[in-house]
Amino acid sequence: MVSVGIVGTGSYVPEKVLTNFDLEQMVDTNDQWIVSRTGIKERHIAAPETPVSELCYQAALRALEDAKLAPEELDLVIVATITPDFVFPATACLVAERLGAKKAAGFDLQAACTGFLYGVATAAQFIATGIYKNALVIGGETLSKILNWEDRGTCILFGDGAGAAVLQPVEEGYGFLGYDLGMDGAGGSLLAMPGGGSMHPASAETVAKKMHTIQMAGSEVFKFAVRIMGETALKALDKAGLGIGDVDCLIPHQANTRIVDAAVKRLGIDAGKVVVNLDRYGNMSAASIPVALDEAARSGRLNYGDIMVMVGFGGGLTWGAAVVKWSKRGV
Ligand code: UT7
Repeated sequence: MVSVGIVGTGSYVPEKVLTNFDLEQMVDTNDQWIVSRTGIKERHIAAPETPVSELCYQAALRALEDAKLAPEELDLVIVATITPDFVFPATACLVAERLGAKKAAGFDLQAACTGFLYGVATAAQFIATGIYKNALVIGGETLSKILNWEDRGTCILFGDGAGAAVLQPVEEGYGFLGYDLGMDGAGGSLLAMPGGGSMHPASAETVAKKMHTIQMAGSEVFKFAVRIMGETALKALDKAGLGIGDVDCLIPHQANTRIVDAAVKRLGIDAGKVVVNLDRYGNMSAASIPVALDEAARSGRLNYGDIMVMVGFGGGLTWGAAVVKWSKRGV
């Protein structure tokens, strides 16, 4: 098997910033509640005319530039999203067309907030087996378009953005060392958008009932997240033959600082090794981990040889972790 690593990263968020103070004007909430319960201060929101493919395209351009790779060289494009431009065609097709990735295969992948981890794990298999050389994995979301802006329990949590990574063969022993992926369909209704699929096709009634928006049992998801983040990270480390003491950098899904803090405490990892940017972006679902990864890489937090762990959880329920020995030199 060929070693596979991340050779370029990129991210993009829309210009418009929505602060907690802005939200105070929209629902019965306040900055103090949001900061103390979630850690979020502001989030970016896409313009009404901006689809997720635009955010994905911008993030992809940056990742390809970082990897010094021409789009024509791409063999595979995977977009992880729960807010595609359309049910079909896939957003991956739209992004590949804009990029000019003429020879690439591609598809969308849906594992909610764990989508990027499922995406890199999938893409890496094609490279490890020698089938493909260059893969682009994007996590992108326009969650603002599926929020109920009258529900203070959900609308304060989420934001829009996209992050991307280019995967290629890397030197032996570097790159992805271990994964853990899981799901539990029994918890599916805890975090869902019930309308618009074949169970409840769009109708005047589904729109009136706000079934095309995120519905969430917040405290149930909270408890699940705290438990699973530690479990899945340790399993992936075990598969890599490593322990928590070997980790130089932890990139968790950016849902809530209380979830991150609790997971960090359970894992017993030094908080200084944990990347947190959710104060500026909120929860961007599949985009959270790749945006944090890009910021960590570009700010010099990831150095050649570092052991980095990405860990996430989300609707489905789904969860996952990936252990990477960073193979890129320099910032
Ligand atoms: O990617 C995965 C996506 N989902 C998550 O990660 C969500 C995980 N869950 C959470 O982050 C937390 O459960 C929340 C941040 C959503 C809620 O925090 P909580 O500490 O679990 O609060 P709660 O739902 O138990 O609500 C406490 C109180 C309630 O009032 P009462 O019943 O005690 O009077 C809520 O009505 O806070 C109220 N509340 C709010 N107050 C002000 C709920 N939302 C708000 C709000 N502003 N935005």
